[in-house]
Amino acid sequence: MSLKINWGIIGLGGIAHKFASDLLLVENCSLEAVASRSLEKAEVFSKQYNSANFYGSYEELLQNKLVDIIYIATPHNSHERYTILSLNYKKAVLCEKPFAINRKQVFKMIEASKNNALFLMEAMWTRFNPSIKKIKRIIDNGEIGEIKYINADFSFKANTSIQRIYDKELGGGSLLDIGIYPVFLAYLILGIPNKIQANAHFYESGADSQLAMLFNYENAHAILFSSFNATSKRIAKISGTLGEINIDMPWNETDSFSIQLNNEAEEFISLPTIGRGYSHQIIECNTCLRQHKIESEIWSHQNSLELITLLDTIRNEINLSYNEDFL
Ligand SMILES: NC(=O)c1ccc[n+]([C@@H]2O[C@H](COP(=O)([O-])OP(=O)(O)OC[C@H]3O[C@@H](n4cnc5c(N)ncnc54)[C@H](OP(=O)(O)O)[C@@H]3O)[C@@H](O)[C@H]2O)c1
Repeated sequence: MSLKINWGIIGLGGIAHKFASDLLLVENCSLEAVASRSLEKAEVFSKQYNSANFYGSYEELLQNKLVDIIYIATPHNSHERYTILSLNYKKAVLCEKPFAINRKQVFKMIEASKNNALFLMEAMWTRFNPSIKKIKRIIDNGEIGEIKYINADFSFKANTSIQRIYDKELGGGSLLDIGIYPVFLAYLILGIPNKIQANAHFYESGADSQLAMLFNYENAHAILFSSFNATSKRIAKISGTLGEINIDMPWNETDSFSIQLNNEAEEFISLPTIGRGYSHQIIECNTCLRQHKIESEIWSHQNSLELITLLDTIRNEINLSYNEDFL
């Protein structure tokens, strides 16, 4: 693998634009090719972000020999298919969250990564956010004591004319789309809970529009929430026996947090992101590719398997299934 990493993007929707603008901020990599189901859309996108090539089909891009790694930015129901297809075309993959619809699919994706000896990572960009990394180190060092309580949400008033929000065929619903972030935070800090309780409200389609979750740990609780129905400042709180951390809004893409140890003044810590914050996961992928790794140690295959298992468990609690669960 040369020093310069060549990226390809498939699926040129909302997140692909944000990702591409952050990719331009990272050294020693380039946008080699982009692909859309529409050639015209790919051409416009290509010009906007200085991509060397553009294609009107995803598979054509996968045949470009210069592309090292594919960023998959398509709806949830297609993540498994395009990840395995890309790996079989001998491309490394960064695939958007949720990695897939269920654990069974994620397992197959990881098998394809191992069989092809190629890098694969879920685009859980919050794991690479400088504040979140620092908070994890502070907690692991025991600076705020034993963690007893986490409170995190991801809630906004969604535009329900956007099909992938509510369409179960596309893997829609608040849990897979945004609830995954508070679940990720509880998992990162406290690990796998002993018991999960959850309650949801649903769209007519059967996808969840709003979801409250309670994670029970032996010595702690996490109270988590996701919703497409109501706005929220999106502040997360982590409380320990020696102090607390408040992660500033919106916590999953934050550039600051505060820490308050018992009886001491609150300390404010600012850690700006590069661009919108997608650059940090891009840097991690580039580093792993140069080191011929098939997974990141910071957000590993096992982490993704455990996260999707938690999502499966929550779905079981609220009786939410997708067609992919019956395949
Ligand atoms: N990390 C983050 O901050 C973040 C934020 C938002 C979303 N996401 C994730 O990114 C992924 C895409 O989300 P998005 O908001 O970018 O969605 P979006 O705006 O709807 O774009 C998705 C793109 O996927 C392609 N696509 C392929 N098959 C499709 C189908 N059957 N229906 C609709 N689109 C199809 C389309 O690209 P072409 O027309 O070009 O083929 C479409 O523009 C999801 O996994 C989502 O959860 C992540």
